[in-house]
Amino acid sequence: MARIYDFLYSITLVIVLQSIFPTRGKVTTPPLPILPLPSYSQLKWQQREIIMFLHFGVNTFTDSEWGTGHESPRVFNPTKLDANQWMDAIAQAGVSLAILTAKHHDGFCLWPSKYTDHSVIKSPWQDGKGDVVKEFVDAAKAHGGIDVGLYLSPWDRHDSRYGKNKEYNEYYLAQLQELLNNYGNLREIWFDGAKGTNAPNMTYYFSDWFAMVKELQSSINIFSDAGPNVRWVGNEQGFAGKTCWSTINGTSLSIGEAGIEHYLNTGDPKGTDWLPPECDVSIRKGWFWHKKESPKKLSELLKIYYNSVGRNCVMLLNVPPNKEGLISETDVRRLKEFRGAIDTIFSTNTAEKCSIKASSQRGGKHGGFGPEKVLDGDHLWTYWAPSDADNEEQWIELRARNGTVKFNVIRIQEAIGLGQRIKKHEIFVDGARIASGTTVGYKKLHRLKKGVVNAHTITIKVTESRDTPLISSVGLHFDPFWDPKGEVDAPAED
Ligand SMILES: *[C@@H]1O[C@H](CO)[C@@H](O)[C@H](O)[C@H]1NC(C)=O
Ligand SMILES: *[C@@H]1O[C@H](CO)[C@@H](O)[C@H](O)[C@H]1NC(C)=O
Ligand SMILES: *[C@@H]1O[C@H](CO)[C@@H](O)[C@H](O)[C@H]1NC(C)=O
Repeated sequence: MARIYDFLYSITLVIVLQSIFPTRGKVTTPPLPILPLPSYSQLKWQQREIIMFLHFGVNTFTDSEWGTGHESPRVFNPTKLDANQWMDAIAQAGVSLAILTAKHHDGFCLWPSKYTDHSVIKSPWQDGKGDVVKEFVDAAKAHGGIDVGLYLSPWDRHDSRYGKNKEYNEYYLAQLQELLNNYGNLREIWFDGAKGTNAPNMTYYFSDWFAMVKELQSSINIFSDAGPNVRWVGNEQGFAGKTCWSTINGTSLSIGEAGIEHYLNTGDPKGTDWLPPECDVSIRKGWFWHKKESPKKLSELLKIYYNSVGRNCVMLLNVPPNKEGLISETDVRRLKEFRGAIDTIFSTNTAEKCSIKASSQRGGKHGGFGPEKVLDGDHLWTYWAPSDADNEEQWIELRARNGTVKFNVIRIQEAIGLGQRIKKHEIFVDGARIASGTTVGYKKLHRLKKGVVNAHTITIKVTESRDTPLISSVGLHFDPFWDPKGEVDAPAED
C-alpha cells in the first residue's frame, strides 16, 4: 500500500512542479528566407516611406528647369536662405531623409568645390563664402532625426572637360570625393544617366564612381535607374506598377537606357537582385521653383502616396526652395495637410476591434507565428506564417468582436526581411470579393472602389505565392478624403 501512496505522491509532485515550472518546450524556428534579401540599409530606406528632394540652384533664379551652363554665378543670390526653415518643413511632413541637388545639369555647384569656380564662390550670396551643402547638412544634424543625401548631376553643361572621357570622369570623381568626405554620413546618393547631345561619346564611369562611393561610405544607398541599391520606378509621376516586385535582374539594366521603363515599374518575380523602386515626383509641376507654379492638391498627393508607398515603394517628393532660399508658405501648408491626412487615415486601425484566425499556423498554437502577429505593431519581424503543410487555401480572417467595423482602405504588409513572396491575393468582405491584387511587398494599400463598407468578417486570401506567405501587418482604415466617384484611375501597369 505504502508503495502506491509513494507512487501517487511522486506523480502529484511532478504535476504540481510542472504547473509551477513548466518545461520549456522547443520554440518553433522561423522559416528559411527566400532570396534575394534586402540589405540593412535597404530595409531602413524602405521604412522611411516618404523622403524629400530639394531642387535648388541657378535655375531657381532664372525660372528654368534645365540651365544651359552659361548662367553667371552672380544670379545665385538667395536673400533669406535658411536651411533650418527647410528642416522644419521636412520634420513637419514626418520625413526622415532629404536629398539636395549639390549640382544639377547646369554645372553650378552649391558647395565651394576646389575643382571649379562655377559655384557659390563666385556668387554674391554670403560674399562668396557660403556653402549651401554645409548649411543643409548642419541644419539636418541640428534638427535630429533627419538624414541627408545628395545628387551630383553627371551631365554638366558648363564644364569644358565634359565630353572628354578621362578628364571629365576624373573631375566628377574628385567632386564625389569632396561630397562624401566632407559632409558626414550620407544615406543616399542619386545618379542619373542624362547626357548632352553635343557629346554623344561621353561615357560615365559608373563602376568606378560606385566603387568609390562604397569605399568611402559603405552603408549609403546608391540610386540610379539600375541601382545598385535603389532603382528608378520608370516615370516621374510617382506611380509604381500595380504589380511591383522589389526584385529585378540588375545586370540586365543600364543607366539612362530607354525602353526599360515597364520592367523598372513592375520588377521581376524571378529577379536575382533586391533593388526596390523609388518614385520621384514633384509637389509642383517643375522640379525647380517657379513663381507661376503652385503645389499639387492634397487629393493628388494622396493618390501618389497610394500609388507609391501603397505599392511597395518609397515616395521621393520634391519640394523646391524659392528665390529667397525658403520653402514657400503654400508648400509648407500643403505638406502639413498631407502629413495630417496620412496620420488621420492610418493612426486608427479598426482591425484591432476584431478577433482573428487563420487557415493554419506554423508550429501550431504555441509556435509563435499565429495570426495575432499581424496586429502587434511590428511591421517587419513578427508575422503570421501558415504551416508548411498548408498547401490549400491560405487565409486570415478578421471578425468584428461587436457588430461591424467601418473602413474604406485595407493595408497588408509582408515580412520582407525574409524575401518578397506573395504573387496574388484576394479580399472578401462578408463572403463577397471586394478587392484583389498581385504583389504585396513592404506595404500594399487597397482603397476600396466601393467606398466605405461596414463589415462583420474580412478575409484576406493568398492565392499564389513564391513560397509560404509571411504577413507582418494588416490594417482596416477609414480615409475621409477618399471619394471613389471623383476618381479617374491612374494609368498604371497591371
Ligand atoms: C564619337 O566617336 C565616333 C567613333 O569613335 C567618332 O567617329 C566621332 O567623331 C565621335 N564624335 C565626337 C563628337 O567626338
Ligand atoms: C531574371 O533572371 C532569372 C535568373 O537568371 C531568369 O530566370 C529570369 O528569366 C530573368 N528575367 C527576365 C525578365 O529575363
Ligand atoms: C458592444 O456594443 C454595444 C452597443 O454599441 C456596447 O454597449 C458594448 O459596450 C460593446 N461591447 C464591447 C465589448 O465593445
